[in-house]
Amino acid sequence: MDHDTIENLSHESRVFPPSPQFASQANAQPEMYAEAGADRLAFWEKQAAELQWETPWHTVLDWTNPPFARWFDGGKLNVAVNCVDRHVAAGHGDQVAYHFEGEPGDTRDITYADLLREVSQAANALESLGVKAGDRVAVYMPLIPEAAVAMLACARIGAVHSVVFGGYSAHALRARIEDAQAVLVITADGGHRKGKPMDLKSIVDEAVAASPSVKDVLVVKRTGHDVAWTDKDIWWHDLVGAQPETHEAQAFDAEHPLFILYTSGTTGQPKGILHTTGGYLTQVAYTHRNVFDIKPDTDIYWCTADVGWITGHSYSVYGPLANRATSLMYEGTPDTPHTGRWWELVEKHRVTILYTAPTAIRTFMKWGDAIPQSFDLSSLRLLGSVGEIINPEAWMWYRTVIGGDRCPIVDTWWQTETGAIMISPLPGVTATRPGSAMGPLPGISAAICDEEGNVVHEGHGGYLVLTEPWPSMLRGIWGDNDRYIATYWAHFAHLYFAGDGAKYDDDGDLWLLGRVDDVMNVSGHRLSTAEIESALVSHPSVAEAAVVGASDELTGQGIVAFVILISGVDAGDHIVSTLRNHVASEISAIAKPRQILIVQELPKTRSGKIMRRLLRDIAENRAVGDTTTLADANVMDLISAGLAAGTSTED
Ligand code: WT7
Repeated sequence: MDHDTIENLSHESRVFPPSPQFASQANAQPEMYAEAGADRLAFWEKQAAELQWETPWHTVLDWTNPPFARWFDGGKLNVAVNCVDRHVAAGHGDQVAYHFEGEPGDTRDITYADLLREVSQAANALESLGVKAGDRVAVYMPLIPEAAVAMLACARIGAVHSVVFGGYSAHALRARIEDAQAVLVITADGGHRKGKPMDLKSIVDEAVAASPSVKDVLVVKRTGHDVAWTDKDIWWHDLVGAQPETHEAQAFDAEHPLFILYTSGTTGQPKGILHTTGGYLTQVAYTHRNVFDIKPDTDIYWCTADVGWITGHSYSVYGPLANRATSLMYEGTPDTPHTGRWWELVEKHRVTILYTAPTAIRTFMKWGDAIPQSFDLSSLRLLGSVGEIINPEAWMWYRTVIGGDRCPIVDTWWQTETGAIMISPLPGVTATRPGSAMGPLPGISAAICDEEGNVVHEGHGGYLVLTEPWPSMLRGIWGDNDRYIATYWAHFAHLYFAGDGAKYDDDGDLWLLGRVDDVMNVSGHRLSTAEIESALVSHPSVAEAAVVGASDELTGQGIVAFVILISGVDAGDHIVSTLRNHVASEISAIAKPRQILIVQELPKTRSGKIMRRLLRDIAENRAVGDTTTLADANVMDLISAGLAAGTSTED
């Protein structure tokens, strides 16, 4: 065996080039790679020039004090003006910015002119409360248009928003308010989720009671159910509704902070990832235009992400609005009131571009082809995936069942920290392989390196790093520069360490292999949990699989797989040995799981990520650790009960 940092064992020979029709009309053409390669900074200047600047920059990139980058220094612009005002000024006020669909079935169309009026009123309201440029504002909302309006109003006056996902607890919200010292919270009485009103206001009350920095709480009326009222509370419709409908926007420095977004790290303390103005907007607009091939006059674009995540910031709000897209915004869950809701919405709005997560795709796969097949999905022309590895089976299902075998798929790798897409196919250029994110976008420099920081090549794996600064990169962790340096820049000198394993196949295409803490070392071989999961899921009896490395006296780590079988399929008596052999034939005998446990559910976070840490606890016969970030708190009990009752199997 060779000594790759991560063994490169799987293979994928299917290739899907874009159709000639798609390729010829695509925004991004092949020359873009050469252009960016010849002069990276000139390329980024050209992308920045697509925006409206009040004052041009004098320096494209200042990297004299790494890892603290300054992009487009000297330039001034206003993000809200770029996302709203300039489109209205260009005569597009009547174009719909958002088709909103509430979970209970209520709908609203918000045009760019409506958005300009509402953002202006909200900006005036914030100023009337004394919120100033640089102040932090926490946003804790359901996925309704006012969430985007609140973000844009902050951006308009230079206040720094910190959106906290509406599923977080009072404890988590309070910690984020405290860390950022937010002066205002914007929330709603509640939202609609799974057919019921979900409370937000009482959670805010609890968090704000322990947050002395907060002076006011602005409350959107969404559900109309009774809520307790405190002396900090103001109804959004009372205050915002009474404001003048115009607001004169001031331009801010390119490096003025735009937002903080908290993400979890290896310690209990969340990291406030800081993004700034000019570089962020440049890269989200550039990637949205080229990766999603957006045609503002004809496309109906749907990114299913909540504004509580970076995907919602960059591709539900700032990217699409900067490019004058018409978007769909849907408040609810995919199974309310029925499991065809998403496909019904695609049919109703003639959605052309859909951007979602593999966890959703695998859920739809489990529910069966008949559901999407009973709707007209022929309007779709491009599909996107983000957030985790999309295994080749889910990729193929997405392509055939949702995309009718005609839509390019863009598997987009990026992070809260990168702000915008970094690694992805270009839909009219790249011949894609199911499960591969293919390669860095024009203007982006990525590499894979071994433990010592040496770059590896075709057929080898290692750690994914970013080798040059990029415009939408994080500018730090709020209030903690040391942690910023230690987390991202200390593993390898001068390289950004993403925390992901990756490999190049023999053709040089890039495959993500999961977080490096999800990488196992078995008998001196480093193996990706994701690669083994993909192999398991490729078996016709398997719906979902999660693999962890459990410590093993003999081999260092042993591979333990948790598998959900497809309901109604008779897996047979020897399913465990069948699956072990299947993994051996898909990857290698060294990848055979030591143990396969058949379970009914897997523990997931609210954003759908499997919590392998908890599975590792079970695999290593330990008491199960902290479960507070689980979407469903009962799942671990169910798994343990199932295993005790003998539904687990081991051979
Ligand atoms: C981590 C970042 C980017 C927005 C949503 C997640 C994983 C992300 C992919 C992809 C394989 C992916 C990585 C990354 N990830 N996209 N296309 N293929 N893995 O943002 O919560 O900051 O998570 O998500 O592990 O490091 P996030």
